[in-house]
Amino acid sequence: MPLDLPPAPVRQADSSDDLALVTDLVSRMTLAEKIGQLRQIDAAAAATEPAIIEAVRRGEVGSIINLVDFEQVRRMQAAARQDSRLGIPLLVARDVIHGFRTIFPIPLGQAASWNPDLVRTAARISALEAAAAGVNWTFSPMLDVSRDARWGRIAESFGEDPYLTALFGVAMVTGYQGDRLSAPGSIAACAKHFVGYGASEGGRDYNTTNIPTNELNNVYLPPFQAAVAAGAASVMSSFSDLDGVPATANKALLRGVLRDKWGFDGVLISDWNAIQELVVHGYSGTDREAALAAVQAGVDIEMNGPAYAGSLEALLDDGLIEMAQIDDMVRRVLALKLSLGLFEDGGDPPSPEVGSGADRLEVCRELARQSVVLLKNEHQILPLRRDNLTSIAVLGPLADAPAEQLGTWVFDGEPADSVTPLQALRDVAAGRFEVRFLPVLANSRDRDTSRLDEARALVMASDIALVCLGEDAILSGEAHSRARIDLPGAQRALLEAVRETGKPVIAIILAGRPLALTEILPLVDGLLFAWHPGTLAGPALADLLFGDASPSGRLPVTFPRSVGQIPIHYNRKNTGRPPTPDTVLLIDEIPADARQTSFGMTAFYLDDGHTPLFPFGFGLTYGEIAYGPVALSSDLLDRSASLTVTASVTNHGHHAATETAQLYVRDLVGSLTRPIRDLRGFRRVMLQPGETRQVSFQITAHDLAFHTAEGRLEAEDGLFDVWIGPDAESGTPARFRLQSRHRPT
Ligand code: BGC
Repeated sequence: MPLDLPPAPVRQADSSDDLALVTDLVSRMTLAEKIGQLRQIDAAAAATEPAIIEAVRRGEVGSIINLVDFEQVRRMQAAARQDSRLGIPLLVARDVIHGFRTIFPIPLGQAASWNPDLVRTAARISALEAAAAGVNWTFSPMLDVSRDARWGRIAESFGEDPYLTALFGVAMVTGYQGDRLSAPGSIAACAKHFVGYGASEGGRDYNTTNIPTNELNNVYLPPFQAAVAAGAASVMSSFSDLDGVPATANKALLRGVLRDKWGFDGVLISDWNAIQELVVHGYSGTDREAALAAVQAGVDIEMNGPAYAGSLEALLDDGLIEMAQIDDMVRRVLALKLSLGLFEDGGDPPSPEVGSGADRLEVCRELARQSVVLLKNEHQILPLRRDNLTSIAVLGPLADAPAEQLGTWVFDGEPADSVTPLQALRDVAAGRFEVRFLPVLANSRDRDTSRLDEARALVMASDIALVCLGEDAILSGEAHSRARIDLPGAQRALLEAVRETGKPVIAIILAGRPLALTEILPLVDGLLFAWHPGTLAGPALADLLFGDASPSGRLPVTFPRSVGQIPIHYNRKNTGRPPTPDTVLLIDEIPADARQTSFGMTAFYLDDGHTPLFPFGFGLTYGEIAYGPVALSSDLLDRSASLTVTASVTNHGHHAATETAQLYVRDLVGSLTRPIRDLRGFRRVMLQPGETRQVSFQITAHDLAFHTAEGRLEAEDGLFDVWIGPDAESGTPARFRLQSRHRPT
């Protein structure tokens, strides 16, 4: 998918000296030393430090995961550099997914910011913090397009859209890697999981995937291609299987697409024990066959598994693989080590190149603020006015849950650093109004309703109820899928009890996935969806609640009305029988004597229609935003030219707002059917009350390209619709024609 990409960082190992060094090293390595470079061992597993150090000294380990104590890293790097025969340093890997010590919102929340620059800065901070602990490689970003909210790993994704996923993926890659991988504070990124893991059937983790070629080319592969073009140093193969071939053995994709077509020459690592799991998949009969399949497919390093160490020698002896293949794999690993400058520094902590802790926390707070999506704001209940309040009842299991607000994949963040919504509200209140707190439920799964009366009484005695609900961190992330995506436990009962008081109710939802909020919506006046916002959830939310900042987050993923609507995403196909508002008749409206075809034959659910609860791109502001009609500089677009698309955006409200104007296109007729809309650009526009701005985008043929029936990436001549609007469902399009050359009229 077309994207304007920043230049790739210069790969240090591209210089002829470096290449010579790598070639020389490989020529001097024993087979055991080579195999050592192709293994990544887990430092957290049973092996003791002395045992690991011994293995490192013998040259049997090239890479370690889960080692984050700087002193320990220093000792191991010293063993590798000074005591091993060839002095080859170690790759030290860690899952730095949304922060190291400073925890930013989960990636899905970061995507809701629609602000790749800020996400790049956050990744830079994560890299600095991780590098200071001796880490030089992170397994991030996760570029799996995710369209199923049941899948726990949707939390780690950038949502349902390939364009947004690619943009945020590139932002993270360039943030981690900086201008130069060898600069202090740069760490190697890893684009994962190649490819299609997000399509796990039924949203059940590790499940099989079925992805038609058209979708693979146009939805799942493009974010990886963008990350590779941006210089991602490594790629990880997925656990999943696709059309009967597990990703880790998929030669057509790993070699054919990633290496040969895209020219990726970085390190390809398997996911955790995924080579041995080829046996469990039923694709290979033995570890040895599995190792052979992975080598043939192009996997360089086995992450925490026995197959390479146990089988490569025998495979060579039997002539099933050649030494040249092993040498190639080793060369890529050594080239990465060179690129990272590991042969040069003595393992000292990188000098902090940017920013103090305070700067980091300011970015953390800003990204958390920008990730929150305002879903409902009845009668402009928000922002709250400090001087109008005498008391506020703060309820719910997530109001003061320092670890839960951090979300999934937090190994190095400290819950003790967290500032919770309750703490932040108490700071804001500072004696001016009272904050009365009752968690009511011990955690999000708690079903004990014995304190609901107390909750009601507390709300009755207060001006307003603020209820913090959602999912504990453990309910999303790897292997944490859910079949129901509602508020677990007695949280809905809590909201109902609070609603009965007749007091205004504001809910803040902290969660790792979109939730089905259909039944919750009528119970609240205001609703902020905060994902898991990270260390500074509390101050960020307080800023928004009291209008010190205006909500600007937008949904990077469609919110379904119910689980039954899944999969649901905005960039769907029209079908031959698309529903319209007149053709949709819901179950309670159907007359008793209705006949088979009495309300048409279109694609919708009798009980949940066809529209989502909240569309992709949706998010309210504290302003009142209106879009003018879409204007085109021409209704013809020549392939070698560009077209300007403009719309006015006005804030008719009384509060300043940051509106995210979104550009969508639709290719009306294609050699393959095209989605009813595709995001092709967006801009965050600051608008004061009463202010109007013109928002313009340039469109070229490049923006209209897709992988066609011929298998080529190109734009096809014909008619296109184009929208500029606040989300993926609203607005009226303008139409233009793409043609190869202006025809004389
Ligand atoms: C996950 C990867 C992760 C790896 C290392 C696996 O279970 O699928 O995303 O990077 O573990 O922790």
